[in-house]
Amino acid sequence: MTDYNKQNFPVEKVRKYLEPGPVVLVTSSWENQSDIMTLGWHTILEFSPSLVGCMIASMNVSHDLIRNSGECVINVPTHELIDQVVAIGNSHGDEVDKFAANRLNIEPGSVVKAPLIAECFASFECRLYDGALVDNYNFFIFEVVKAHVDPQVAFPATLHYTGEGLFRVMGEKTSDQHKKFKPEMLI
Ligand SMILES: Cc1cc2nc3c(=O)[nH]c(=O)nc-3n(C[C@H](O)[C@H](O)[C@H](O)COP(=O)(O)O)c2cc1C
Repeated sequence: MTDYNKQNFPVEKVRKYLEPGPVVLVTSSWENQSDIMTLGWHTILEFSPSLVGCMIASMNVSHDLIRNSGECVINVPTHELIDQVVAIGNSHGDEVDKFAANRLNIEPGSVVKAPLIAECFASFECRLYDGALVDNYNFFIFEVVKAHVDPQVAFPATLHYTGEGLFRVMGEKTSDQHKKFKPEMLI
């Protein structure tokens, strides 16, 4: 075992260690306006129904589009899209058409009006499931109602944000421990 030398760490910076799920691109659409935002603060909440929670700050255009439409698409980019991920996360949809500015192609969803991003290997169509935490925490609980994934992508090199402009890329190293799992834990 490693003998760690843990020291005091600023509580406001723990995101560096807890945040790094894959960075996603959330698309939304309401009336004649569509938008994309970069999002790192999300969490799985339940398998079935398939629930995902996302923190979408109220200053973002996407917040209003998603609140009004009750829908979005969570698209998962890989490291080839790093420039778009950064540009989309540093601009607002009322100033620029982020789809055109970032040369992203869209495809229609089958359930929601928000578009899928063709350059992402996975796109999850979502409907707002519970908005009870939106007013106080900007926390949207979505149900994934339709999932589109390219099965050829075995080890997606997803981007993981650790704050201060730094990203990590998911590697291929795996450790198969399934024999040590209780059957009910292998859902
Ligand atoms: C790597 C990265 C992760 C981000 N994660 C979030 C997030 O989890 N929630 C959020 O509200 N904004 C997040 N942002 C900021 C939004 O993407 C940014 O405010 C964007 O301009 C919103 O676009 P919009 O106003 O067009 O909706 C992130 C930005 C970057 C670059």
